[in-house]
Amino acid sequence: MQDFDLYLPTHIVFGKGRVNELGKLVAGKGERVLITYGGGSVVKSGLLDAVKAQLSDFTVFEFGGIEPNPKIGTLKKAIELCRREKIDFIVAVGGGSVIDGTKCISAGTFYEGDAWDLMYDSSKIGRTLPFYAVLTLAATGSEYDNSGVISNPDTDEKLFLAAPNLFPAASIMDPTYTFTVPAWHTAAGAADIMSHTFEQYFVKEGNELTDGMCEAMLRTVIKYAPEAIRHPDDYEARAQLMMASSFGCCGILSIGRSGSAWPCHGIEHEISAYTDITHGAGLAIITPHWMRWSLTPETAPRFAQYGVRVWGLDPAGDPMETAKKAIDLTADFFRSIGLPAKLSDLQVTDEHFEAMADHVLKHWFPLEGAFRPLDKEGILAILRASL
Ligand code: NZQ
Ligand code: ZN
Repeated sequence: MQDFDLYLPTHIVFGKGRVNELGKLVAGKGERVLITYGGGSVVKSGLLDAVKAQLSDFTVFEFGGIEPNPKIGTLKKAIELCRREKIDFIVAVGGGSVIDGTKCISAGTFYEGDAWDLMYDSSKIGRTLPFYAVLTLAATGSEYDNSGVISNPDTDEKLFLAAPNLFPAASIMDPTYTFTVPAWHTAAGAADIMSHTFEQYFVKEGNELTDGMCEAMLRTVIKYAPEAIRHPDDYEARAQLMMASSFGCCGILSIGRSGSAWPCHGIEHEISAYTDITHGAGLAIITPHWMRWSLTPETAPRFAQYGVRVWGLDPAGDPMETAKKAIDLTADFFRSIGLPAKLSDLQVTDEHFEAMADHVLKHWFPLEGAFRPLDKEGILAILRASL
């Protein structure tokens, strides 16, 4: 058992209708508030109006149009607005992209240089604007963590910023607001939650409690994602996915054991950087190939444990065979919920594979620390197998 820190200051407010408590949560926190949102789903669903109704005592500014895979150029405009209008706090209403973008706005407002610098060096983050989140999509866990991933189309980069003061002050999570999430994003979100779990589960050293939490997380998503796709307004299915989203990326799945290098995320962010594909869809393609590449006689017992405890495979089976079956079942599951099997299905070519491999080695966590240590050849092998 390793020592660990777990710092999770965000107040989670979970349940139907709880957006009506936003006014109480933000009371006394200032006078001028910015609401951030994406391409308009929250306008259509009526959530934006519900949020505004809660902020009637404040001077409210709005900033819509934060894109999926949020772009630094857009976020800089919101940073200008926050400075100009002397905003006291932000309310982010949307999925991971809106919440991530809001973290960049929050940190960028008080940073005197170019906000993109913060993506290269989070230690430059000083004071931040407080912000709240109203979540509309179960996927990234941004509502309960302190990092954000931002894209720069000018440099073909997608990088993250993180700081202890970039947690939302509170996150309101009403599963009914995810009823309108289309099947594609529901499936991509499920793959993202599963990937966050895999990234923390497939590490060199196990831990009974944390392994069990990861396995429960995976079984939950495997059970409820197909339900939510078949019946978009199934409250229980949406609620289970929403809860899984928050606990998948907040650090709790890594307590008491060595950290992880998050290799699939490092590789997927490179693909999104160049091609703007949906994060979870990219992960659904990369992950089974990363698993196959990582399967060796040394790693097989852990893949087999996953197969036995998550997929119900025979515990008496040969570990290598059980591991292979578990990986095939993972790939089949992603296909069954409508996600693509190959990068070429999303019109991604091998044109930038070399640059992607170089960039991930330079800017991501050290990949020699991955479950099976990864070098450039390993990254290229996974990318080529995924094509
Ligand atoms: O923009 P709007 O109109 O709101 O539409 C969005 C968007 O088109 C739509 N949507 C969201 N909620 C909806 C809805 N449509 C109908 N009804 C609703 N209730 O869904 C589309 C995708 O939204 P987005 O926010 O991009 O999805 P997601 O939550 O999956 O976020 C993805 C981003 O988060 C990053 C990803 O890399 C990606 O950029 N990540 C953030 C992490 C973090 N902060 O810890 C970790 C993750 O690993 C991930 O990297
Ligand atoms: Zn992710």
